[in-house]
Amino acid sequence: MCGIVGYTGYRNAYNVVINGLKRLEYRGYDSAGIVIENKDGKHNVAKTKGKVEDLLAISQSSEYSGNTGMGHTRWATHGVPSDANSHPHVSNNGKIALVHNGIIENYDSIKILLIEKGFTFKSETDTEVLVNLIQYFEESQADLDFVSCVRYALNEVYGAYAICVMHQDHKGEFVVARLGSPLAVGIGKDEFFIASDASPFVEFTKDALYLEEGHIAHISLKDGIEIRTITQNEPVQPAIQELKLSLEQIEKGGYEHFMLKEIFEQPKSIHDTLRGRLLVKEETIKMAGIWDHLERFSKAERIIIIACGTSWHAGLIGEYLIEEFARIPVEVEYASEFRYRNPIITNKDIVIAISQSGETADTMAAIKLAKEKGAFVYGICNVVDSSIARITDAGSYTHAGPEIGVASTKAFTAQLTILSLIALKLGKHNGSLSNAQFMELITELDAIPKKVQEVLENTHEICKVIAKEFAHTTNFLYLGRGFNFPSALEGALKLKEISYIHAEGYPAAEMKHGPIALIDENMPIVIIAPKVGHYDKVVSNVQEIKARKGRVIAVVNPTDTQVRSQADYSIEIPMVNEAFSPILAAIPLQFLAYHIALIRGANVDQPRNLAKSVTVE
Ligand code: G6P
Repeated sequence: MCGIVGYTGYRNAYNVVINGLKRLEYRGYDSAGIVIENKDGKHNVAKTKGKVEDLLAISQSSEYSGNTGMGHTRWATHGVPSDANSHPHVSNNGKIALVHNGIIENYDSIKILLIEKGFTFKSETDTEVLVNLIQYFEESQADLDFVSCVRYALNEVYGAYAICVMHQDHKGEFVVARLGSPLAVGIGKDEFFIASDASPFVEFTKDALYLEEGHIAHISLKDGIEIRTITQNEPVQPAIQELKLSLEQIEKGGYEHFMLKEIFEQPKSIHDTLRGRLLVKEETIKMAGIWDHLERFSKAERIIIIACGTSWHAGLIGEYLIEEFARIPVEVEYASEFRYRNPIITNKDIVIAISQSGETADTMAAIKLAKEKGAFVYGICNVVDSSIARITDAGSYTHAGPEIGVASTKAFTAQLTILSLIALKLGKHNGSLSNAQFMELITELDAIPKKVQEVLENTHEICKVIAKEFAHTTNFLYLGRGFNFPSALEGALKLKEISYIHAEGYPAAEMKHGPIALIDENMPIVIIAPKVGHYDKVVSNVQEIKARKGRVIAVVNPTDTQVRSQADYSIEIPMVNEAFSPILAAIPLQFLAYHIALIRGANVDQPRNLAKSVTVE
């Protein structure tokens, strides 16, 4: 969701910014723009509705040569995707250019005041209001320097933002600030990079600084980086760290799409998530985050899991895992609902916040609320040093590596892996699991990466065949029971997200309370039916579907005969404890969504209207 890239140094800024914007495409966007400072300090702006390729087409001339510049990919919030609404936005006097990720909530009232003072507006955006507010402070308070003008303006607005500002009178300088949306600064020799995440500058420098909430920084080649707090203007020491990210991790590595690459990475990402934590020989699970807070977890009267999207589905499976193995009551909530419904939370509750990106605005806000009410908040994030990782009391990273495809795949199965570890660790600690049970379960969990590899090898081809048959249907149902009810929800979400086919997930038994009315020979039903838990009941559900001529695509175990004999298509996954079966079941459902989307000609990695990191409410 909105990407920012900035560069000042000795390189061709246009190339650095354009390549950086391409790296941020995965975040989701609908327009793009760039501003380059030429050798006289003049700003040349190009911006357009559409993709970075469209921007390239309108910005090829020599006007765009210079060593300082910034660019933006916009995901529309205020105003439709259009050339005028694209960033950068420029102040009325033409001197200040600004790119922004987030929402200025009180922009309307400020706009009215600025119009009264003679300002005019070309766009419908909140961002154009902010850039003119900066000009207003510059003109009305002559003694303010560049950074102070920006700071004064920011003290007038509320909402969420990461901004990068350039000024024609301050060549080679940036003012950047953040509240709610992330911003990283890459520090090279005689050059600086600004970006929404480190991917645009990873090949140039390993030294990075993540701007903290409520901080503003002045960046110039002459004076380096000077950071202050936005509200109090107090100086802050820059905390520079070494990037762990590598270029290979964020490239496609020969795959047609990031999503396919990421599906195939799952044996490794799950293995990396288990590594150093699941120690079968030592008969233990070691996780620093949990280890340090075991007593608190043992005394918890309740665990509340908060998340959005796919992470919420992982949370639902987490509920089954923790209740099954640790016998601690768990509730799972959409972060967006939790934060607005005056929830009852006490200091005896533990809140687990799950977020791949670690930046989701609703999850951030829900965490802040839970903390205010005294709960201990544990984070499960994939992005190291993300905002959520930093505001939670403790947590564990899913070591899935960067996930670029907007539709989450490997991050989801890594989340299930972490939740399995947490449930098993707590169950062992509080005595809900005997040593024998614990050993049996951790031995099975340890074998999961190998089984995932088998699933990848054995299900890809059949999923392509099924995709061909059903790519042009308009609806899909996904059904599952027990641990695999959330698998059905996630399978349906994957299909919706990337193929734009309407799909719904249901607990299989609920089918007869509504969805059964939809079943006829045109309705494909994906049913997750491993020979565990309530297998017999699922067999009956399949019979009910076939009696109504529904088309059944079943995910089954090798020894299954009853479901297979009735299904139109069967996809085999190895036998495993029911608790871990959602990890295996996820893979053919990802393949199915991917191949259906591919046949339909959809943009698999950047589905329309979706963003990877949803930094607005
Ligand atoms: C967006 C993404 C989803 C993701 C959700 C939650 O909607 O498109 O793939 O599941 O946000 O994101 P998070 O980073 O908090 O897991």
